[in-house]
Amino acid sequence: MNEKVQEAINNQINAEIYSAYLYLSMAAYFDSISLEGFSNWMKIQAQEEMTHAMKFYDFVFERGGKVVMKAIEQPQAEFKSPLEVFEKTLEHEKEVTSLINNLYELAVREKDYPLESMLKWFIDEQVEEESTAANIVDKVKLAGDKGPGVYMLDKELGARVFLPSTETKEK
Ligand code: FEO
Repeated sequence: MNEKVQEAINNQINAEIYSAYLYLSMAAYFDSISLEGFSNWMKIQAQEEMTHAMKFYDFVFERGGKVVMKAIEQPQAEFKSPLEVFEKTLEHEKEVTSLINNLYELAVREKDYPLESMLKWFIDEQVEEESTAANIVDKVKLAGDKGPGVYMLDKELGARVFLPSTETKEK
């Protein structure tokens, strides 16, 4: 694995851990307003992001490279509403998609076929990540920010469970 590729993967490890950190910050917001189901969804999302980070981590070692843990930026801590949180989630996932796409382009340019191959999983995963976030944005809009709709949605999001690997159940 060349230096440029190794550096880019280390940056992606950082971005995935930052995602976990951001979703935990969102979970803390939901816990602070007693929406435990919403919080559960975010905590599972954070766990998933750590598995993404670890896929890259393991990949670097399998290739005989060096993993460098970089500083994690502080995520947003104050939110106005569940809708704002999920709009930010969708926006964030779109950014992650472009990071993955850039990494893929680098793999092609550098003729790093193993990286190209492993990134296919992430390309598919990002389609799912964006679609799930967009779906919840729609549901939060339907439910409104307060009242029985939010209570029902809280129950639904509270049913999400963490499944290791690719079989994470979305609700
Ligand atoms: Fe690791 Fe949500 O993308």
